[in-house]
Amino acid sequence: MSKTSQLPGFYKFSVAERRALVCEATGVEPIEIERALVDGGLDAETADKFVENVLGTYSLPFGVALNVRVNGKDRVVPMVVEEPSVVAAASNASKMVRAGGGFVADTDEPLMVSQVQIFDVTDREGAKARILAERADLLARADRAVPGLVARGGGARDLEVRFLGTEADRMIVVHIVVDCRDAMGANLINSVAEGVADRVAELAQGKVGLRILSNLCDRRCVRVTCRVPAKVLATEAMDGSAVIDGIVNASRFAELDPYRAATHNKGIMNGVDAVVLATGNDWRAVEAGAHAYAAKTGTYSPLAVWRRDGEFLVGRLELPLALGTVGGTLRVHPGARLALRIAGLESSQDLAMAAAAVGLASNLAALRALATDGIQRGHMALHARAVAVAAGAVGNEVERVAHMIVEARDITVEAAKRALLVVSGQADSAVSLDDT
Ligand code: MEV
Repeated sequence: MSKTSQLPGFYKFSVAERRALVCEATGVEPIEIERALVDGGLDAETADKFVENVLGTYSLPFGVALNVRVNGKDRVVPMVVEEPSVVAAASNASKMVRAGGGFVADTDEPLMVSQVQIFDVTDREGAKARILAERADLLARADRAVPGLVARGGGARDLEVRFLGTEADRMIVVHIVVDCRDAMGANLINSVAEGVADRVAELAQGKVGLRILSNLCDRRCVRVTCRVPAKVLATEAMDGSAVIDGIVNASRFAELDPYRAATHNKGIMNGVDAVVLATGNDWRAVEAGAHAYAAKTGTYSPLAVWRRDGEFLVGRLELPLALGTVGGTLRVHPGARLALRIAGLESSQDLAMAAAAVGLASNLAALRALATDGIQRGHMALHARAVAVAAGAVGNEVERVAHMIVEARDITVEAAKRALLVVSGQADSAVSLDDT
C-alpha cells in the first residue's frame, strides 16, 4: 500500500523526478529502482537462463497508473505496455472512480484445475464411481506431488469427474482442484496431473491422455466494481449525465454484439495485461482464461458492464486471473519484483484485485472517450508529444510543440521541427506551420 497514489502533474516531471516521487509515495528506495530498471530490468546473461537461443533482451516502457484506490488502499500500480495513452487513460479514469470512493474488489480463493484426460474408457459410470470412491487417496497423492505448496498452506482441495462427448467417445476427464496460494500455479498443477494420472487411469480402466492445467481458471475469479458520480464524467461538450447515458449505451452495444464485445474486452485487457506483464506474470494464460470466460454462456460477451444508478455510473468487471507473487519469472526478474514492491502487493489475490481495477479503469476511459469526443483526439494529443520528442524538443518545449502541431492538425516530425524553431525563438511565430 502507498502513502498516496495521487501525484498531481506527474507526467510533467522528468523520469528522474518521477522516480523520486514514486519512492516518496511508496517507501521504495531510489537505489531499488535504479538497480531493477537498468537494462530494462534484465541483462542478457540472465535472459539466457530464461529461454533458449537468446541474442539479447527487448525492453518496453515501465510506467505507473496513479490515483488507484482498491478497497480503501492506495496503490501506485506499475504497467508495462507499448501503446500510447493506456497508462494516462487508466490514471485519469482511476481519478474519476476515486471521486466515488475508489474500486471495491473481491476474489475467490486461488484455486486452479488440473486436468487428467483418460480415453478408451468402456464403462464411464463405473469409472466415475471407482474414482470418486478413491477421492481421499487421490487427493493425498496430489498433495505428495507438491509438498512445498502443502507446506505453504495450499494443496489439493477437490476432485470431479466429467464425461466428454457421448458414450461412443469413451473419454472422461478428472479435475483435481488445487489451492495455489500465492503462486500462479502452472508448474504445480502440471505436477499434480502427472502425479495422479496413472492411478486415475487404473481406476477408470482406460488410458492416460493429457495431463495439464486448465487456463479457464473459473474458480479463481476476481470481481471489481465502481460508482462514479456524474459530475466527474462531464466533458467540455457534454454534461456528466449525458456521458453516463453514452457509456451505458456503449456497454449495451458490447452486450448485444460479439464484434463489439471483443474490442470492449481488448480495452479492459489493455490495463490488465500491462499489470500482468509488469509483475512478471504469464499474460498468455491470462488472455486465454479471460476470453474463454467471456464466452462461457456460448455467446462471447463483455467482461465488464456499465449501468446508471441515479446520478452515478456503476461498473462491474469479473474475470478469472491466475497471477503469482512468488515463483516463476519473479525469482529472476528484478523489474517484476520492483513492480510488486511499488504497488505494495504481497498476495496473489491482492495483485489480482489491483490488475482488475486497472482493467476496469481502462474500460471506463475507453468508453468515455468513445461516447464523447471519439478515441482519436486523446490519442493524437499523446502521439503529438512523441512526435515533438522525435523532432528534438526537450523539457517544456515538448508540450508547446505538441500543442502547436495538434492545433495545426499536422502531427508530423516535419511540422514539429518547424514548431520547434518557433518555440526556441529561431523562427518568427508568424511563420505558418504548414510550410516555410
Ligand atoms: C484500444 O487499444 C482499445 C479500445 O479500442 C477499446 C474500446 O474500443 O473499448 C479503445
